[in-house]
Amino acid sequence: MAIDLNGVRVVINGAGQGIGAAIARGVAESGARVVIGDIDGDKAQAVADSIGASARAIRVDVRDRASVRAAIGLAVADFGGLDVMFNNAGIAQVRPFLDITEEDFRAVMEINALGVLIGTQEAVRQMLAQGTGGSIINTASIAGKQGYEPLGHYSASKFAVVALTQTAARAFGKDRIRVNAICPGVVATDMWKTIDRGFQDNALTSRPQEAFETFAAGAVLGRPSTPQDLVGVARFLASPESGFTTGQSIMADGGMVFVCPPIRTGER
Ligand SMILES: NC(=O)c1ccc[n+]([C@@H]2O[C@H](COP(=O)([O-])OP(=O)(O)OC[C@H]3O[C@@H](n4cnc5c(N)ncnc54)[C@H](O)[C@@H]3O)[C@@H](O)[C@H]2O)c1
Repeated sequence: MAIDLNGVRVVINGAGQGIGAAIARGVAESGARVVIGDIDGDKAQAVADSIGASARAIRVDVRDRASVRAAIGLAVADFGGLDVMFNNAGIAQVRPFLDITEEDFRAVMEINALGVLIGTQEAVRQMLAQGTGGSIINTASIAGKQGYEPLGHYSASKFAVVALTQTAARAFGKDRIRVNAICPGVVATDMWKTIDRGFQDNALTSRPQEAFETFAAGAVLGRPSTPQDLVGVARFLASPESGFTTGQSIMADGGMVFVCPPIRTGER
């Protein structure tokens, strides 16, 4: 049976394009009502228009608590509450490890990690006020499970997302608020265009798409990911079908990173 999200009230930030836009459309197709937030308000509006009457758009900067609160306020005003919060906005920068400046580190951490903290706090406050419980879903990455050069500060920000996911799950489980993360692999979006260009700018690759193709070749399923590949796991985490799942960072990477305990063989 297909997952049914009828009546589910969702806010998704960083949904003006890419993975967020695909998830917004996907959960709306399953019946959810969706507030689409993005720092680019026009892009958010275009995604909402493509969905129709069950969607709203708002300009949100995830670093700015007031604007995150406003997105949640829109869901409350127009849909009657908040059941699911997707903290999806993120940026990537290519920097060889020794070139990462304090400014670079702060810029990436502020959107990718602080943005998730603020989004989680504001969603939890609303869900506690409702007394309904809820589901919070953060977009982490394979880079939240393994450090990747030359993406050191990006990897640090995604490890932070995994840590915030686990911590919030422990803090609010008793309130029936579940907190999970999705870890995509190499997804064909504008973010990878930026990363690919960064590899070339740093003379780490010599032609367009080379970095993308090299990284994507690590997926055992044998192809790069598309935003659509993340929709199924997003629907699952948004629905009661995942009602006993919390604190998890679910790999949806085509089999790039296998997270398992070390195998001890031949030890005395
Ligand atoms: N593309 C990949 O291969 C990949 C892999 C793993 C994880 N991710 C993560 O998935 C998420 C979405 O990435 P994507 O590939 O769709 O990228 P994308 O660049 O296509 O989309 C990111 C969206 O976030 C918005 N955004 C940026 N800063 C914002 C801010 N301060 N406030 C609100 N919105 C903001 C952008 O305007 C854009 O619409 C990110 O968290 C990213 O780190 C992507």
